[in-house]
Parts: sequence; C-alpha cells; structure tokens
Amino acid sequence: MLLVAGARPNFMKVAPVLRALEERGHDPLLVHTGQHYDLEMSEAFFRDLDIPEPDHHLGVGSASHAVQTARIMEAMEPVLEEAGADWLVVVGDVNSTLAAALVASKLRDESGTRIAHVEAGLRSGNWSMPEEVNRVLADRLSDLLLTPSRDAAGNLEAEGIEADRVAFVGNVMIDTLFQHLPRARERNVGGTLGLARGEYVAATLHRPANVDHQDRLAGALEALEAVGRHLDLPVVLPLHPRTRTRVEAFQLEAMLEPFRVIPPAGYLEMISLLDGAALALTDSGGIQEETTALGVPCVTLRQQTERPVTVTEGTNRLAPWPPTPESIREPVSRAVTGGRWEPGTRGPEGWDGQAARRIVEQLERHGPKREAID
Ligand code: UD1
Repeated sequence: MLLVAGARPNFMKVAPVLRALEERGHDPLLVHTGQHYDLEMSEAFFRDLDIPEPDHHLGVGSASHAVQTARIMEAMEPVLEEAGADWLVVVGDVNSTLAAALVASKLRDESGTRIAHVEAGLRSGNWSMPEEVNRVLADRLSDLLLTPSRDAAGNLEAEGIEADRVAFVGNVMIDTLFQHLPRARERNVGGTLGLARGEYVAATLHRPANVDHQDRLAGALEALEAVGRHLDLPVVLPLHPRTRTRVEAFQLEAMLEPFRVIPPAGYLEMISLLDGAALALTDSGGIQEETTALGVPCVTLRQQTERPVTVTEGTNRLAPWPPTPESIREPVSRAVTGGRWEPGTRGPEGWDGQAARRIVEQLERHGPKREAID
C-alpha cells in the first residue's frame, strides 16, 4: 500500500488510515509530495498527529497548477514503479491527489497497482474551483471510491460510475478529530490569547475565489469585521500564506487591524481554537466538517458547499456570496441561534471515529493485487 499526502488538509486524513493499516499487519509506505512545505503547513501536522517520517519526500513546492501537478507526476512515477504496491491510496481533492492518481492510472497495466480515493463523491458543481476538477477526475480514475457521507453515492451514480466501485466508509477526518480532541483542549489557544471560551469568533480565509482578487478580498475582510462588530466579539484570524501574500500585494494590511491575526495554526491549535469559538467563519472544506463534529456554529463564505450534510445535519450555514457586511448578518444569526452541541452527540452517519477501520476493511475486501485490467 502506498499512501499519498501533500497539502495541509491531507495530513489529518492519512494519519488514521496509516495507523489502521499497521494495526491490521500491513506495511504501508507514505509519500509526501511537498505541495505544502512551511513548518506550520506541514511539519507541525506530522508532529501533532504522530505521523511517521514519509518514506518518500518529493519536495515539489509551490508553482502554477500545471507546473506543480506535472512535477508531482514526474516524481511519483518512479516511486510507483519501484513500490509495486497493490493499492495507491489518495485522499481529498488537492493537486497532489489528482497528480498521483493520474500517474497510477497510466501505470496500471505494468504495475497492477489500483487506486483508492478516500473522500470520493463530493461535488460543488463549480468547475472554476481547482478542487472540483481534482475530485471529479480522481474519482473517474479510481478503482475504489470511499465516500464520507451518503449523498456522495448519488453524485457518483449521476456520473455513470458503477455502484460496485463505491463504498460508504464515513469521514476519516473525524477519526483524527475525536482522537486528538482531549490533547487539543489542553492547548487552550483562546486562553493563551486572553479570550474566554465562547467569547470570540474563529475565522479562516484562503480560497482563490475569496482572496485572489483585490475587491473580493477587501469585501470578505469587511464582512468578517462586520460580524465581529455585530456580535461584539473579537475575531481571531490564523492567516494562510496565500492570503498573507495577497493582502501584501493589494496593500490591504490596514484591513487586518480589527482582527487578532495569528500565524497558520497547527492541527491541535486549530481544533482548540474552533472548539472554544462562539462561531467559525470560513471558506475551508475541512472546517465545515470539523465544526459540525464539534457542534460549533459555522458560516461558510462560499458560493456552494460540496459538503451539504454539514448544513442539513450539522451546524453549517452558507452566506450569500460574495459576502457583504449586510448579507452575512442573517446566516450568522441563524447559525448562532441554532446553538451548539457536545462533540460526538449528533452529526452525519459514519462521522464516528471509525472510518479508517472501515477503509481498511474495504481495501482488504477488494482483495490483493489482481490481473491488470484491460
Ligand atoms: C491548497 C489546496 C486547497 C486546500 C489548501 C489548504 C489545491 C489546488 N489547493 O491550496 O484545496 O484547501 O491547500 O491549505 O491543491 N504557500 C506557502 N507555504 C506552503 C504552501 C503554500 O507559502 O507551505 C503559499 C505559496 O505562495 C503558494 C500559495 O501558498 O503559491 C498557494 O499554495 P498551493 O498549495 O498552491 O495552494 P493553497 O492555496 O495552499
């Protein structure tokens, strides 16, 4: 088995799968593509989540989509050839996910390595999002599609993907969340910032659609500031490197002044920050899921969500997009009055801390290496 991780949201998804494979006597190899490389974006997650050193580090770094994807593909090819693994396991929807799946699909006949995609079947329907392209294509290329929520199967069926390639396993990110919540709570990040539990807003912003254009970024920051004012609460903003670069390029530094800006948070810090917040404001996919599992109200600054169960069965509300100080008030009020719940007491099916075990069961059930597919 070969597992691939490359960017921040991948690390919490591979960690429990690696552990569950080892517990079942497998000997998985981990590849880090190096899509994310800063201490806070990568190493901190390996440390917090006790992920072993990768067996291969491809060191690709940042570049345009084409260059980054191509570099990962070039570097992955010899790794896959050498490993002769029965499964390549890719997770999520980042460039590393698609690049690795694409290489494996071209080598399928020679290597016999099949592809399993963890977090299959999520769809936003928005083709301008790089993640949507990555997830649709990764699903198309995969032999085994492991879905995190029941709605995903319908999305895959609508695309003509055979039902026998699809298996519902639940949300593996929530395995990591429940495992590490006690340690995260010990960090008490709110407390170290001088903020009491339930007395601040936690915000994140990094989607290209929100931060890559000056007007959009200014509008989103204005909306965040208005929420803080409306609720009369401080807004803590861990700043993603993409967003920091854009703020500087557009000379919007003054618009950060109303916020408690902190560096990108490590895994335990982020969970601690979310867990103690009155409200989360975000454009992240993972945070929509984590707040639902934590029972913390969340408002998402996106046109649509590929994770609709976080709205129908969770704490998430979509703000009209692009957000304005006026339009964000109503979803914020709805989210806050929706209340919160204790982690693990409610939430979508299969968000129970046992997804990695089910993933390994599926990999085993679909058997060892078989003859290459014609
Ligand atoms: C990527 C994922 C996105 C995910 C996000 C989480 C794709 C297409 N996008 O977006 O789905 O939500 O990760 O963080 O795969 N940078 C650093 N240090 C790093 C990494 C990046 O400074 O360790 C800066 C670089 O200027 C880089 C920019 O951030 O150009 C964007 O990084 P990139 O990996 O291309 O995309 P993200 O916006 O992080």
